[in-house]
Amino acid sequence: MLDARAVARVDPGGMRDIIASLPDQISAAAIWAEGKARAPIAEAQRVFLIGMGGSAIAGDVFAAWVADRCKVPIQVVRDYRLPSYARPEDLLVAVSYSGNTEETLGATAEGIKLGCRVIAITSGGRLGDLARGGGWPVFEVPAGLPPRGAFGHLFGILSTIGSGWTYGDLRGDVEQAVAHLNELRTRLRPESGVRLNRAKALALRLKTTVPILYAAPPFTAVARRWQTQLNENAKVLAFSSTFPEADHNELVGWVEDPRARSYRPIILRDADEPPELKRQLDITTSLMSKRTKVEEVHDDGPSLLSRMLGTLYLGDYVSLYLAALRGVDPLPLKPIETLKAKLAAARRKS
Ligand code: PA5
Repeated sequence: MLDARAVARVDPGGMRDIIASLPDQISAAAIWAEGKARAPIAEAQRVFLIGMGGSAIAGDVFAAWVADRCKVPIQVVRDYRLPSYARPEDLLVAVSYSGNTEETLGATAEGIKLGCRVIAITSGGRLGDLARGGGWPVFEVPAGLPPRGAFGHLFGILSTIGSGWTYGDLRGDVEQAVAHLNELRTRLRPESGVRLNRAKALALRLKTTVPILYAAPPFTAVARRWQTQLNENAKVLAFSSTFPEADHNELVGWVEDPRARSYRPIILRDADEPPELKRQLDITTSLMSKRTKVEEVHDDGPSLLSRMLGTLYLGDYVSLYLAALRGVDPLPLKPIETLKAKLAAARRKS
């Protein structure tokens, strides 16, 4: 059911090639953005990364990766409005693949009114026009992809323009992570059989369950990506949550609700977990295992970014194979298109 031909049959739009292109996208975008304008911190107290869904997630992963070395807080905003503490000297990076997402446009327009410096990352749309109209730099990503399929472009650009927001150089880590993803691709692609392919094996185990993703920082952004890729590519309910907080509430449901067996916790682990977190997650896994099977996922990449992106890549492929097992085309997102069309109609009327 998961050989390369079967996967191709449910995937006429080529999501498998889009997923495979992650390392190529990251290196192409990082190199391309190198020659463009930088985004210095200057007087900014904060960097706001504004975006929604498949565009925001690149900001989440970037912010989580550099959290322990950024010079100012980097905050992802998923809203129509900026937080009340935004200041005119702050730097605002608006990320919208389509350029037409109303929440992103709303918060960006508010930032422009406030006097913030703005950078846009987009394939065009109204965001491109808004930024160009104000004389702000626009980093253009190639058109024709679904937003979630442009993750590598968005992340690659952020890792280059954001190099001044952190202590130390980011480039070496990005190159190493790209090399790691290239190695992983051989084992994860549709041509690789289920015995070697962890993504296929995991998709088979998830087929009849509701996946619930768990991770501790900095992997929470990766857990969210797994969730959203499962939602959008495989068209399934999936949720994500955060450790250690979930041990102070959700754990009770896992241990005491008999329905727990219909759900599948997937815990993203890391070799570099601090000892107290490792101890806690080991105990959690054994408690949860009393009611349901627990999946633990980790990556053996040589750096934090390699492991974050390696884990993310695995999740992208799991979502592709789960789509194939369910016989659904991973590309179209009819419910989101319907929502956006209705929002646009309501906007025109108001
Ligand atoms: O995956 C998707 O298509 C969505 O989550 C979009 O990314 C989201 O609706 C925002 O659109 P855009 O990324 O074009 O700003």
